[in-house]
Amino acid sequence: MRLRTLIPATAAVGAAAVGYAAVVERNWFALRRYEVPVLPPGSGPLRLLHISDAHLTPGRKRLMSWIRALDDLDPHLVVNTGDSIAHPQSVGPFLDALGPLLNRPGVFVLGSNDMFAPRPFNPAQYLLGPSSRRYKKTVADLPWEELRAGMAAAGWLDLNNQRGQLKAGGQDIALAGVHDSHIKRDRYAQVAGPSDPAADLRLGVMHSPEPRVLDQFAADGYELLLAGHTHGGQLCLPVYGTIVTNCGIDRERARGLHRYPDPEGGPAWLHVSAGLGTSPWAPARFACRPEASLLTLIPRDSG
Ligand SMILES: [Fe+2]
Repeated sequence: MRLRTLIPATAAVGAAAVGYAAVVERNWFALRRYEVPVLPPGSGPLRLLHISDAHLTPGRKRLMSWIRALDDLDPHLVVNTGDSIAHPQSVGPFLDALGPLLNRPGVFVLGSNDMFAPRPFNPAQYLLGPSSRRYKKTVADLPWEELRAGMAAAGWLDLNNQRGQLKAGGQDIALAGVHDSHIKRDRYAQVAGPSDPAADLRLGVMHSPEPRVLDQFAADGYELLLAGHTHGGQLCLPVYGTIVTNCGIDRERARGLHRYPDPEGGPAWLHVSAGLGTSPWAPARFACRPEASLLTLIPRDSG
């Protein structure tokens, strides 16, 4: 092919890929389903809906109605691992989007983007290393307290550097969570110690799947660890998958369900959500559809 032909052809393919990533895939929401054998023999199943990284701006009506329809899955428990908002006026729309899900048992932690308004950056920076290196703000400029109060008012447990206990789907669940390690707000010491051996299930909840945090949850006996933050890489390569994880987790476990710390044998399970949204300044996803996950927890002896 001549250069005269090759250059316009390459430009056309590039423009098509950008258009697909920004218009099609960013709005092509996927529901992932997994079975996780973590319940005591003879109990369950328990449907756990994991949502994360909505990065909601008030105009994203399709995203809001898709989230609202997740209630049709009839989950016993909802876990929100943060980065829910991306605009000062997003708290009301986000709570509206949760809608009937707020009437169900739920827990949440916050992410850095719940506190700090997004600012322009080159999306290619996603491929250059952790965004924490670009983080300069120290004073929150998004209404994270309003967001937290809204979810807490519905009865959802705030797990930011806190432990909790709840009953869902007939199971006694012991929980612990940390605030976002990506901006060094995690205080594991406040939740440290063996998890409750009398509970039917022990859940560790965090925004960013940072190994130093995951290791502590796993060592304390939390058998299912839930995180978001990575966006699954957001701009991925077909077949190869995630290019960067934006934290310390390995590429292979940047999204989906895996064992932890030993990828072959656990003892914990780790589910990382690739998330529902993107920064409004990087509104594109490629080979990494926005997602929520329904984890069906089943007895250990049936896994
Ligand atoms: Fe995020």
